[in-house]
Amino acid sequence: MALSTATQPDAVPEQCPALACWRLDTSGQTLVLASWDGHLPGIVYWGPALPAAEDLVALAAGQLRPLGPGTLDQVAELSICPEEGRGFPGQPGLRLRDGHGRPLPTQFRLEGVEADREAICVRAVDGRHRGLRYRARFEVAPEDEVLRAWAAIEGGEDLGLALDWLAAPVLPLPEDAPDFIDYAGRWSQELGEARVGFARGVHLRESRRGRPGHDHFPAVVVPRPGATATAGGVHGVHFGWSGGHRMIVEALPDGRRQLQFGLSCSRDGLDRGGFDRDGLDRDDRDGGGGFESGVIHFAYAEGGLSGLGRAFQSHVRRHVVRLPEPAGPRPVHYNCWEAVYFDHDLEVLKDLAARAAGLGAERFVLDDGWFGKRDDATSGLGDWQVDPRKYPEGLGPLIAHVEGLGMDFGLWVEPEMVSLDSELARAHPDWNLAPAGYAQISGRGQQVLDLTRPAVAAHLFERLDALLSAHRIAYLKWDSNRDVTLPVGEDGRDLSYRRTRALYRLIDRLRARHPGVEIESCASGGARLDYGMLQRCTRVWLSDSNDARERWRMQTAAATFLPPEVVGSHVGPRRCHSSGRVLPMAFRAAVALTGHMGFELDLRELTGAEAATLRRATAFYKENRAFLHNAAEYRLETGRAEASARMRVDAAKSRFLLFAATLAVSRDEATVPLRLAGLGPDCRYRVRLCNPELLEAAATRHFPSPLLAEAGLVLSGAALMRAGLVLPLAFPDTLWILEGRALVAEGDRA
Ligand code: GLA
Repeated sequence: MALSTATQPDAVPEQCPALACWRLDTSGQTLVLASWDGHLPGIVYWGPALPAAEDLVALAAGQLRPLGPGTLDQVAELSICPEEGRGFPGQPGLRLRDGHGRPLPTQFRLEGVEADREAICVRAVDGRHRGLRYRARFEVAPEDEVLRAWAAIEGGEDLGLALDWLAAPVLPLPEDAPDFIDYAGRWSQELGEARVGFARGVHLRESRRGRPGHDHFPAVVVPRPGATATAGGVHGVHFGWSGGHRMIVEALPDGRRQLQFGLSCSRDGLDRGGFDRDGLDRDDRDGGGGFESGVIHFAYAEGGLSGLGRAFQSHVRRHVVRLPEPAGPRPVHYNCWEAVYFDHDLEVLKDLAARAAGLGAERFVLDDGWFGKRDDATSGLGDWQVDPRKYPEGLGPLIAHVEGLGMDFGLWVEPEMVSLDSELARAHPDWNLAPAGYAQISGRGQQVLDLTRPAVAAHLFERLDALLSAHRIAYLKWDSNRDVTLPVGEDGRDLSYRRTRALYRLIDRLRARHPGVEIESCASGGARLDYGMLQRCTRVWLSDSNDARERWRMQTAAATFLPPEVVGSHVGPRRCHSSGRVLPMAFRAAVALTGHMGFELDLRELTGAEAATLRRATAFYKENRAFLHNAAEYRLETGRAEASARMRVDAAKSRFLLFAATLAVSRDEATVPLRLAGLGPDCRYRVRLCNPELLEAAATRHFPSPLLAEAGLVLSGAALMRAGLVLPLAFPDTLWILEGRALVAEGDRA
């Protein structure tokens, strides 16, 4: 049997042999594809790294399954696109219909496979309809631990094809894992980690909302048996698409399991265009060619959920987000939304800006309410002209004031939408996205524009370009506050795919024209947190909840896929607007500084003590952000429902910051040791509590630990990880911050 490996690009099977294999490696994982008899390959191995000299043919052969009683005479292949035409009994990876609407099963045959250390490209042609082609690409960037893959269908125009479903390359899931983690939620309760037990059959999640949605962050995590938050092998997959999507987890009767991600829509004919490796829309450049599935980002990692999080965080840092100044600090935001809502008064805003600057803010963000006639959420969207009633001299005086305070200026926009009560809607009643004869159901009193119309896209580009050209704007908060309910054009065509692509194109054009402007992805909080947006944005607004207790939970969950520097995290009002909870400033500020910090409250409500606490926390964020935004993150096991802790460690393992939250009243009389992670075992660290001032307000009566002493507690990394540290007792809503520094000067290894 012939073997071709990914490390030998010339070893492409000319006449596809009976069994051919290819591999793609990161430093910690190996992916092996195998094709039998020239059929589409399947993934026969995805897990911890295999030896370079591994016999892949033997590996694949060792995975061959016996025929079960009462089954077909061959085991139907779980390929990267399981085909009905090859007898696959589960969910197929592709559903096509011919010009008469009849199902068109495929039997693809390999045309060629190009493989090197960074990519495997699969090309196949259908056995009956030679013009119909399937291709897939798996790739990994040097030193990245996360792989990417997507599939495409090309040709077949003569068949008048309609495509109902195309999955990104299908991943097998481990047969021995008891359960997987799915993400559920709602507005202001994003990223709920839900454990779902594997059961025979299909677990289908579909966002038909035109955006990923609050209720379904597009990702799945599958821990191996026994894996925890901190230890064991974990598989994770994220679908980087900003429109609706469908996710299928299926357990077949023979024990095999598959995961499919793809776009949620059916369309009348193959679409054109796709993504290049940077996710840019290339339709305009080379005329496209086929329909692409959307990109999965996936990794196997050791070290539990937090090991997986480190892989994805580093991937996003280095290969997804493109900051205008990658090395620049993430500035402290002040956002006026929860302070004034729509009630904009220049003098009040100037006062808030001055207070924010005094507390350490570096960017002032003018949220909703500055344009059109926008006194509440019922009117004005679409009229991207400054409201002269509120700003008689335009935005210039406010921007000058903000800049005079040493801050830069950011602005809220919601370009994809229109209020019925707006100049835009009156001038262009036909610009809404709806099939002829249907009235769109409104959401937050607004309608969705049909971005796929060139006139709409051109108008929005012109308006936003004019705003960015006329003012010094460093940042746009790009909002999208409603679901897309019927993404169908006037002519009845499904436009969900094209709409998302048109959105990408609009943002890409703006960023190309204004490369210094940062854009934040917001969708009523966190309804659009995917990597498709993050390829064009530098920050996500994780949630409209500024409740620090909720935020701590959400930010912990987000850390599996998002590095902290892209996660907008604001200090909210004393009494939280989305939960009614009253939380101490020390807690609100400490939680905010673990992400991309900002303030979002009426600063006039602050007492002197609260202002001092916020100022101190902001200074701490600034002193430590270079460290925090480059460090590796570890979740810790606390063994207690009321306690939750994460820490960040630099690459040299010479420093760490530990954040330990108490979220509810403890059932125990005292605290138990917290075991740290990620440290150099032989390295000695000096550990100190950074916020001992909280002791007074906490539940601790007496805490004789050297953590409070000037000299701190000096222990090896091994001891910190194995024996752990006892922290002071705390009332709920306390976040202890500890710092550890390696004692290089004393001759220890850093
Ligand atoms: C959405 C956002 C909020 C705020 C409002 C403004 O709800 O998530 O942060 O910008 O819109 O209307």
